[in-house]
Amino acid sequence: MGVATPSETNPAPEMLSEGASLEELARAAEACQACELYREATRVVFGIGPKSAPLMLIGEQPGDAEDQEGEPFVGPAGSVLSDAIEEAGILSEDVYLTNVVKHFRWKPKGKRRLHQTPATRHVRACLPWLEAELALVVPQVLVCLGAVASQALLGRSFRVTKDHGKAQAWGDFTVVATIHPSAVLRATKPDDRERLRASLVEDLVTAQQLIGKKPRK
Ligand code: URA
Repeated sequence: MGVATPSETNPAPEMLSEGASLEELARAAEACQACELYREATRVVFGIGPKSAPLMLIGEQPGDAEDQEGEPFVGPAGSVLSDAIEEAGILSEDVYLTNVVKHFRWKPKGKRRLHQTPATRHVRACLPWLEAELALVVPQVLVCLGAVASQALLGRSFRVTKDHGKAQAWGDFTVVATIHPSAVLRATKPDDRERLRASLVEDLVTAQQLIGKKPRK
C-alpha cells in the first residue's frame, strides 16, 4: 500500500478526537472516498440504533436494498435477522446495527446488481467508521455476523463455523461471532435452513445473556 492521499483518508479518527457525535460522523461518511466503493454505490449506509445500545450487531456491507434505502439490514437478510432477534428475545431498543463496510460492493449481471464480498482494502479503509461507532456507542457485546465482520475484528484465521457462539475478548469488548443471516437464505434444503436459523438464534441468545439479560419469553 502506498501513502494515502487526503482523498483516500478516512476522517473518522480525527473527527472523533475533536468530539464529533454519531450524527456528525454519519453525515461525514456520506462524503467518504477512503476506497473506490463510493463510485458505484448509491449512498453510504451508516449504523443505526440507540446511542447507548448494549448490543452492536455488525454485518458485512449493505446489500442492494440497503444501498437503495440507506439503512442497514432492511432487505431479505435483514428480515431473517429481525426474526432471529425477536426469537432470541432481544429488544430492538438494545440493538445498534451496522456493517464493517459502509458502501455496497457489487457487479452488474444483466439488470441485477450482484453482491461482491469486500476486499481487505475496503475493510481497512472503512474500519475507522466502525471504530468510531464503537467508541461512541460503547456496547457491552458485539455480535459479528458472518466471516467478513468476524475476521475484520478477530483476524483472518477466525472460523465462524468452528468458533461461533463463543464469547471472545477484543480489546475492552466482548465479541460473539455467528453466521451471516444470508447463509440461512442461501441454504437450499429445508433442514439446513432450519439448522442455520436455529444456530443464529442460539448465538444471539448467548449475546443477550452476556449483556446480563434473560431472553424474553
Ligand atoms: N448484509 C449485511 O451484511 N448488511 C446489511 O446491511 C445487509 C445485508
